[in-house]
Amino acid sequence: STGSESLGPLQGKKVVVTAGGTVERIDPVRYITNDSSGKMGFAIAKAAQILGADVHLIAAHTDEAPPEGISTEKVESAQDMYEAVLRVFENSDIVVKAAAVADYRPAEVAASKIKKRGETMTLELVKTTDILESLGRRKISQFLIGFAAETDSVEQFAQEKLKRKNCDLIVANDVTQEGAGFGTDTNSVHIFDAEGLVLQLPVMSKEEVALRLLTLAAERLPGRLS
Ligand code: CTP
Ligand code: CA
Repeated sequence: STGSESLGPLQGKKVVVTAGGTVERIDPVRYITNDSSGKMGFAIAKAAQILGADVHLIAAHTDEAPPEGISTEKVESAQDMYEAVLRVFENSDIVVKAAAVADYRPAEVAASKIKKRGETMTLELVKTTDILESLGRRKISQFLIGFAAETDSVEQFAQEKLKRKNCDLIVANDVTQEGAGFGTDTNSVHIFDAEGLVLQLPVMSKEEVALRLLTLAAERLPGRLS
C-alpha cells in the first residue's frame, strides 16, 4: 500500500493469510498432500490488500502463481507453516487460516529413497500440531478466522470447530455442493460465530467471497467504533 489510495476498512491492519495444502515428506522423492488449490487463500490475501490491509501470505503447495505485490512466504509442511505463523502472530490483527493443513505426517522422514520390499508396507503417521487451535489458545486481541471443509452435518461440525479452536468466525464449506470447495473458482459458504449463523453466501467467485468475509471481519474488529 502506498498510502495514496482512499482509506479502506482494513487500513493500517496487519492481516496474515495461510493458503494451499501442506506437503508432508515421506522420503526425498515422495510426500503426502491434499487437493487444496490455494485459490481461496490467495483471493483472501488480494481482498485484504484491496481493503487497505498490510498483508502477509504464508503459502504451502498450490499450482497458482502467488498474487503479485503481496509479501509471500513459501512453506512446505504443517510444522513449517506453524513456525511461520507463530513468528508473525503477535503483531497481527487478523489471521485467516484458509490452508488445508495435513492432520497427520509420517512419523519419520527417510533420509534416502525407501526401497520396495514385501507385498505390503505400512507407513506410520503422527498427528500434526493444530495451528489454529494453538493460535486460539495464544490469542490476545487477534481476530481469528478458520475454515471448515465438511461433507455432512456442516453447521454442527463447523460450530464445534469454532469453539474448540477459539475462533471469531468460521467459514464452512460444504465440499459436496456444486461450485464449492477444492479446485473450483467459485465457492458457497456459511459463516458462523459463537452465537450461530452470521452470513450465508450463495455460489459466487472466491474473490467476492473473500471481500464479503473480510468486510464482515472489519466490522467486528475489537476497538472499532460502530
Ligand atoms: N487447521 C490447522 N492445523 C491443523 C489442521 C487444521 O490450523 N493441523 C485449521 C485449518 O486451516 C482450518 C481449520 O483448522 O482453518 C479446520 O480444518 P479442518 O480440516 O476442517 O478441521 P480439523 O480440525 O482438522 O478436523 P477434521 O479434518 O477431522 O474435520
Ligand atoms: Ca483436517
